[in-house]
Amino acid sequence: MPQVLPSLLSADFARLADEMERCRVAGARTLHLDVMDAHFVPNLTFGPPVISCLRKATPLQLDVHLMMSDPMRYAADFRKAGADAITIHVEAVGQRRVEAAISGLRALGCQVGLSFNPDTDPRLWFTWFDRVDLVMFMTVYPGFGGQAFIPEVRDYVRATRARFPRLPIQVDGGINRETIPTIVADGADRLVCGNAFFHDPDPAAFLAWAESVSSLQPPASSLQLLP
Ligand code: DX5
Ligand code: ZN
Repeated sequence: MPQVLPSLLSADFARLADEMERCRVAGARTLHLDVMDAHFVPNLTFGPPVISCLRKATPLQLDVHLMMSDPMRYAADFRKAGADAITIHVEAVGQRRVEAAISGLRALGCQVGLSFNPDTDPRLWFTWFDRVDLVMFMTVYPGFGGQAFIPEVRDYVRATRARFPRLPIQVDGGINRETIPTIVADGADRLVCGNAFFHDPDPAAFLAWAESVSSLQPPASSLQLLP
């Protein structure tokens, strides 16, 4: 069964404690926190001090997505602030530093994730997949909420699921009622939802529906998405 991770990027930042409580009441177990450094992506959000305040205001797990050029410089600070999972971008560390980055995150005692931009072929990184707790495919170019799902990434999700039957596969960007049946059928089981969750008139119903979507059901929307 898939799990929905509401992305706080779409929340009202003036009322984050209330928004996190809204996620909890709706049935979420994990919150997705988007850290942007205005360098790896052309946008800027928040860092460890904010996350440490969020940590005190919610019992939910915190899944921290580091869209940063130098994630390992700050990883320990994010862990100290309360991150339960830290996901870094392979494009930021490159093949040369990925091994050390995984070991470094592992040493912090958090869950370890590797994230991929839509134009990064994960098959070149499969060697490291046995050493991480999750992989995350960006189904939009990272930086902003509310963008349209890029269907080409589906091939990467399928190839990864075929090779790693038990690895948690997270998807992030444009994940909504239209795209969830398709991407779950492809093998994704962790669904980051910003706009689709926060702007739904009934987020609890949305979450319950999304988490009931079966990977065995052929999605009705697949015909529209496939060329
Ligand atoms: C975008 C972020 C996402 C964002 C997704 O770079 O990584 O987590 O919040 O937003 P939606 O679900 O609205 O596309
Ligand atoms: Zn994200």
